[in-house]
Amino acid sequence: MREEIIALLRCPLCHGPLAREGSALMCSHRHCFDVARQGHVNFVPAKRDTFYTKNLFESRAAVFAAGVFAPVIQAISDALERQGVRDGAVLVDAGCGEGYYTKSVCSERRLKRIGFDLAKEAIRLAARGPHEAAFFVGDLANIPLTDRCADVLLDVFTPANYDEFARVLKPDGILVKLWPRAGYLRELRGAARGKLRHDSYDDSRVADYLRAHATALEHSAITYSVPVDAPLAAHLARMTPMLAGIDVDMLDLTDVREITIDMNLFVGRIGARMEEERT
Ligand SMILES: C[S@@+](CC[C@H](N)C(=O)[O-])C[C@H]1O[C@@H](n2cnc3c(N)ncnc32)[C@H](O)[C@@H]1O
Ligand SMILES: [Zn+2]
Repeated sequence: MREEIIALLRCPLCHGPLAREGSALMCSHRHCFDVARQGHVNFVPAKRDTFYTKNLFESRAAVFAAGVFAPVIQAISDALERQGVRDGAVLVDAGCGEGYYTKSVCSERRLKRIGFDLAKEAIRLAARGPHEAAFFVGDLANIPLTDRCADVLLDVFTPANYDEFARVLKPDGILVKLWPRAGYLRELRGAARGKLRHDSYDDSRVADYLRAHATALEHSAITYSVPVDAPLAAHLARMTPMLAGIDVDMLDLTDVREITIDMNLFVGRIGARMEEERT
């Protein structure tokens, strides 16, 4: 892990700065976190089981490699260019999964890219291969990053912790949040009809919670469909929490020839309304 990234980290236990000590990172209270051979760090060493397993992340990797989400990367990159993101900016991807967005957003720019996720398997996959990003296992509720270090905080299909996001973002930092709209993967939900607790998806709760914490600079929909073959449809079914709890390998996906991608893209500032009121 590069020194310029280590300077942005803080100990999750005592919140003090961390420094390299051999092959580990250590704070002044001697809380110690090993740096793995691939360069990632685990700040949540206690094992936690999550829905997000190695198989799931491998399915996700197959879907990303097929380019299903390439238009989303383009839309985020365009939005960040419009907002004036510059080389050297610090981009933090909260709940980054296997790091597809961390590595691909604004790929032309030399950003300081940091991705973290609670799932160890995800971070292990993210750290693989040649890339410029730094990855660690970390919790959204106690982000091991210093106050006001991030220019951009990316939150793609991941729960938000707005107190922590507000702490970690610079005062002029930008939140980029993506979450599903009603049409997202509707063909897969159609194939699972009757097996799901809710046949339709309502995104209004996420939107209301977001609106209570952030002010929009832009808010748009990203909607398109992509042709899929049977293996790709099966990977998509395995990767989505929307089908959690049902045996996706038993679904009949033979009629699924295309998949709808339908999401919200919100770019804004956290707490901007509160700041405005104070001044
Ligand atoms: C639907 S996935 C999205 C992954 C990635 N952002 C993407 O869109 O490709 C949600 C991610 O949030 C992570 N996550 C859930 N709770 C978390 C927490 N408390 N702290 C950090 N990551 C968390 C999960 O492990 C999972 O990787
Ligand atoms: Zn410490």
